[in-house]
Amino acid sequence: MIQYIPFKVIGIFVAAIVPVGVIAYYADTLNHEVGFRGVGMWQDESVERLANLADQNQLPLQIPQGSMEGNLAVNQYQNVQVLGHLSVANFGTLMAVLNQWVAPKDGPMENRNCGYCHNVQNFASDEKYPKVVTRRMFQMTWHVNSQWQRHVGNTGVTCWTCHRGQPVPQYRWNLEEEGPQRGQGMLGYMQEQNQANWYAGLTSLPNTALQSYLLDDMNIRVQGTDIYPGHRSSIKQTEWTYSLMMHFSNSLGVNCTYCHNSRRWGSWEQSPLTRTTAWHGIRMVRDLNNTYIASIDGVVPREGAYTSHQRYGALDDLAKINCATCHQGAYKPLLGQQMLAQYPVLRAAVPQPEPDPDDVRIEDGRIEFDGKIQFRTGSAEVLPVSGELLDHIATLAKNHAYEIAGLRVAGHTDLQGDPRQNFELSEQRAASVVAQLRERGVEVPIGSLGYGTLAPLCTEATAACNRQNRRVEMVIVPEGEALLPADAPEAPPAAEVLEGESVEGATAAE
Ligand code: HEC
Ligand code: HEC
Ligand code: HEC
Ligand code: HEC
Repeated sequence: MIQYIPFKVIGIFVAAIVPVGVIAYYADTLNHEVGFRGVGMWQDESVERLANLADQNQLPLQIPQGSMEGNLAVNQYQNVQVLGHLSVANFGTLMAVLNQWVAPKDGPMENRNCGYCHNVQNFASDEKYPKVVTRRMFQMTWHVNSQWQRHVGNTGVTCWTCHRGQPVPQYRWNLEEEGPQRGQGMLGYMQEQNQANWYAGLTSLPNTALQSYLLDDMNIRVQGTDIYPGHRSSIKQTEWTYSLMMHFSNSLGVNCTYCHNSRRWGSWEQSPLTRTTAWHGIRMVRDLNNTYIASIDGVVPREGAYTSHQRYGALDDLAKINCATCHQGAYKPLLGQQMLAQYPVLRAAVPQPEPDPDDVRIEDGRIEFDGKIQFRTGSAEVLPVSGELLDHIATLAKNHAYEIAGLRVAGHTDLQGDPRQNFELSEQRAASVVAQLRERGVEVPIGSLGYGTLAPLCTEATAACNRQNRRVEMVIVPEGEALLPADAPEAPPAAEVLEGESVEGATAAE
């Protein structure tokens, strides 16, 4: 007898606890109507699950994005192919965002943060594949947000939607191997079934449904569309369809009735609008997998420093997108929070601007540029053709005000003509360039001076050498240093003294 006592005790406990549990469960459930009025379609939600969902779908700390005003990235950097239209300020803050959204925060130091995508000794280099993949990911994100609004609406997606701070999105899928042979003949062929898989809700439904429907465009049908033999859907197709539907329900954390009226599964008339959204979603996912993911298969290396996550599957294919990649258990990704609105640069692709032909840049402590500021012959008047170059210089100076404590603008002439006059002309030309920069809103302290013929770059009496010597230089003055150099040149003696000397003879001392 004695051995039955524990069972009785358990029985009493079960009898007492189960009803309490059931009541507690329902007390903890919210429900709301999803279908058209009168069709009686309700969605039950556990309060606890909703609270967990809210926890899992937090947005990352918002990083304020830099102003879109100012010098373009395409002019500032050497190798920008898709983000060239951003301002330098905006570009910089976007890099910080990529860091937060996709770069790994652990693993080898040199592969973390900026180092995930960059050789930090040379940011322009494409040697690390995540940088190359990232360009493609921008194009994919722009494509989703601008071309698939029938699915993503105005809510759209960001890198965070799929990545959530990880280099490889948590929810992804690979092609499945055909199951192991169990035996001979009829027993042997498993029809890709009976291997519990997550996306079919751990049922024994076939595991190749995603391939058929989210990569290939097989027809998702259970009910035949007409009465003729051969036009029906096979049992195999039916099972695939149900496997896919389980994936939908799991990915969105909803019941079948979120999209169907269960008394007529196939009827569009009786389905809530969510089913139409899902219909577009299926087409979108096929497009993304075939266009974008297919194009980076192979760019992501099969071995190397980053292979700790499984990216390639048993059939050596790269991880792909399914409904869970974005939704992650929520009826709308991130529970519909409007994250994209904070990062408008992710909305649509913008044609890349041509780089600035003057190539204005900061180099060796100077503002350098190709081309020349041109003046009327013998005058300090800047010619209108140089307006654009001055615009570019001014933009750069304004954008880099933080690293330009002061500027020294120095005029130089060629060696032809009277040195005294040349000296004065070069002073006036430098001053006139400063005036042009001020007009364009450059506010950093600027000192100007002229060297005339006193600091030539070459001394041959050739047109090429003359051209090289006629120039305006812009030196960045380090913090705490005087705007004008201590060894600023003195004006050479007036012309009378040198009278009688030939032009060539006026070649200044070095
Ligand atoms: C997830 C990848 C990724 C991360 C992380 C990342 N970048 Fe980038 N970075 C890129 C891509 C892609 C480009 C090229 C953009 C283009 O082609 O339009 C780029 C370009 C640049 C450039 C321009 C280089 C040149 O001269 O062409 C700089 C500078 C830069 N990044 C700085 C940073 C800094 C600083 C960080 C860390 C805060 C960082 N990046 C983090 C992907 C990344
Ligand atoms: C719709 C979901 C989705 C969005 C949005 C998305 N990605 Fe991805 N991303 C993926 C998938 C899937 C892969 C393939 C996984 C792999 O490479 O193994 C991937 C791969 C990558 C990789 C290579 C990972 C690795 O090391 O293998 C990088 C880097 C990356 N994405 C960056 C970005 C950036 C930056 C953005 C935003 C501009 C972005 N992704 C937006 C789904 C997405
Ligand atoms: C997120 C929305 C969504 C969820 C959840 C969903 N379905 Fe579907 N279902 C669809 C869409 C969309 C189609 C039609 C696909 C197409 O035509 O390409 C479909 C098609 C079907 C079909 C085929 C109808 C026909 O015309 O033959 C059946 C059966 C079906 N679903 C059953 C289910 C079952 C059972 C569940 C729950 C396990 C479920 N669905 C969950 C969206 C959904
Ligand atoms: C690229 C990311 C992404 C992928 C992949 C994706 N969705 Fe969505 N889905 C969204 C976004 C974003 C919304 C929210 C749209 C809005 O707010 O209007 C959404 C909304 C929906 C809705 C409407 C929910 C509602 O309550 O209105 C359904 C249903 C849906 N998705 C089903 C699917 C199915 C099924 C798949 C897989 C075939 C899928 N989604 C794949 C991004 C995605």
